[in-house]
Amino acid sequence: MTETRKNFTSKLGVVLAAAGSAVGLGNVWRFPTEVGNNGGAAFILIYLICVLAVGVPVMMSEFLIGRHTHANTITAFSKLAPGKWWRIQGVSGVFVAFLILSYYTVISGWTLYYLVQSLKGGLLESQDYLAYFSSFVSDPYMPVIYAAVFMLMTHLVIARGVQSGIERFSKIMMPLLLLIICVLVVCSFGMPGAGTGLRFLLKPDFSKVTASVVLSAMGQAFFSLSLAMGCLCTYASYFTSDTKLVKTAFSVCSIDTFVAVLSGFIIFPAVFSVEGVNPDEGPGLVFVTLPYVFNMAFHQSVPLLGYLFSGLFYLLLLLAALTSAMSLHESVTAYVIESLRLPRKKASAWVSVCCMALGVLCSLSFGVLSDVTVCGLTIFDLFDFCASKIIMPAGGLIICLFTGWYLDRKLVYNELTNEGTVPFRLFRVYVFLIRYVVPVAIALIFINELLG
Ligand code: TRP
Repeated sequence: MTETRKNFTSKLGVVLAAAGSAVGLGNVWRFPTEVGNNGGAAFILIYLICVLAVGVPVMMSEFLIGRHTHANTITAFSKLAPGKWWRIQGVSGVFVAFLILSYYTVISGWTLYYLVQSLKGGLLESQDYLAYFSSFVSDPYMPVIYAAVFMLMTHLVIARGVQSGIERFSKIMMPLLLLIICVLVVCSFGMPGAGTGLRFLLKPDFSKVTASVVLSAMGQAFFSLSLAMGCLCTYASYFTSDTKLVKTAFSVCSIDTFVAVLSGFIIFPAVFSVEGVNPDEGPGLVFVTLPYVFNMAFHQSVPLLGYLFSGLFYLLLLLAALTSAMSLHESVTAYVIESLRLPRKKASAWVSVCCMALGVLCSLSFGVLSDVTVCGLTIFDLFDFCASKIIMPAGGLIICLFTGWYLDRKLVYNELTNEGTVPFRLFRVYVFLIRYVVPVAIALIFINELLG
């Protein structure tokens, strides 16, 4: 027997669950890295434009598809377009959510390890952070064990269901996450290099803006807002008929952007306060540069502050990762429950175990399997490349074409306005964006990626 479908019970639950999906490693780890690599404030400005012009309309589209059909992503597309090839979008969404979850779990496992180590004091005692990081990620056992523990945490929430799992935990974790961010921003502003860091974040240098910077900003917006993979579609299938879709999309995008920018405000003032550290360190920024910064800035003078700052920072990263992993897990689990008619506990266990099996491969690709490559990419890089560079932009494009051109305009309007009861004055602007602007923008990313 399948369980009866439940809905989120409150407006706050809806916003916090969806924001939990959006706010993740993408905000705290990937965004500052991209800002560092792409020249600071100018990137942030372009990112904001991408969120408004591309992110918000695509999110509204996912919401309306999910809420209208009250079904998992694959069934949602089948219901709206019976017998048509649009279903492929649902299929690729569920498949890619599964793929992303497998490597997302590996990085989340690293954050769990760094949290444990900072609390135990091991992290800040180290001297060479690059060697520390490399020897940890290339170890065959430790990262796998930590990834498995993280997967178990995600599993336990999802197995409890929509209301007492996802909604309840999002309501606890998201406020905690926002609180930690505020504390860390205040700490970071007090550091000696804060001024230089802030200048880097606030003074745009437009000479650095190239086509590829714009395209990176858009790719980042897609990843950070959890778009195009059916995650938000699945969550929206648990929205009730009085949830205001447009307002929710704006709230979620604002919270997500706010957290991303604040993460920049935490990281850059800290980074600039230590001499000889560059902001464009790439993916190692959070795992190599920051521990060094925590150590230099705090630990050597006031050890307790060092533990506190680094412990809080990795806790923030972990909470963010957990609520995002929940949404990736749920979009696969919802499909398994509804298509194979399995009870939730069994379905979620299957998803966790299969995904973890892939996760082991991803984790080992930093060590013993680092020689196994496809087109020069390790397993981890291959998964990330396929998901974020190919299938995600393609998914975004299909969702726009689907809502903009295929779906009946009346259906779209009724769903977004709750049958005309909630005014939506910018409906024409939305239609224009979703029909023309967003598809062209995404096509450009694609062409650039293929040529690049
Ligand atoms: N948005 C999350 C982050 O910022 C990651 C994520 C969750 C995601 N669900 C997704 C990315 C669906 C793409 C598609 O880390």
